[in-house]
Amino acid sequence: MKLFLDTADVEEIRIAARWGVLDGVTTNPSLYAKVGGSYDDIIREVCKITSGPVSAEVIADDVEGMLVEGRHFATIAPNIVVKIAMSENGLEAISRLADEGIKTNCTLIFTPNQGLLAAKAGASLVSPFVGRLDDINQDGMIVIRELGEIFALHEIDAEIIAASIRHPLHVTQSALAGAHIATVPFKVLQQMVHHPLTDKGIVQFKKDWAAASTAAAAKNAQA
Ligand code: E4P
Repeated sequence: MKLFLDTADVEEIRIAARWGVLDGVTTNPSLYAKVGGSYDDIIREVCKITSGPVSAEVIADDVEGMLVEGRHFATIAPNIVVKIAMSENGLEAISRLADEGIKTNCTLIFTPNQGLLAAKAGASLVSPFVGRLDDINQDGMIVIRELGEIFALHEIDAEIIAASIRHPLHVTQSALAGAHIATVPFKVLQQMVHHPLTDKGIVQFKKDWAAASTAAAAKNAQA
């Protein structure tokens, strides 16, 4: 399963890229609002850091507006994917951008039917929101699993992004449920790295090494 970073914070993206685990990036207006500045500049910078798909989300809710924004984003870099929310107009915009060879990520997916429609319209990525479903006492992972089964059964090429990931367990569950990609906040990526026994083990190894080195140095000095 590929890992995308779900952020508009360029520094976080640089760090994940240095770790060698970054396959792409998703942004949205709320993530952009946390960092501010020029959205175009951020997206351009992110596309220099990763050659993987970078989702830039349109704001318009009419088809022509979505097309204008989507075509503009597509000029920024070849790895841009235009993110469009599920709606009747969104489906039309996805279909027309697909005809123009522009890749799209259909966002705010909460049911397998919405995911199926997005893929049929031509979205190359579909993003079910796991965490927001869990928030309202529905099992978000069921959408990932069922959509995965539908795509496999009917040989649909679109990839499923498990989005709205809240904690590391969601990542494991998404991988097991067949998501092609999980897009994770930087904090979750950091949580995935750590385990108390790993961190404790590193401290102990350093301690033991230091003790052994001191003992060896003392022995050499006596010789
Ligand atoms: C990703 O594409 C989504 O925009 C994101 O995962 C939403 O996450 P949230 O529910 O934590 O806002």
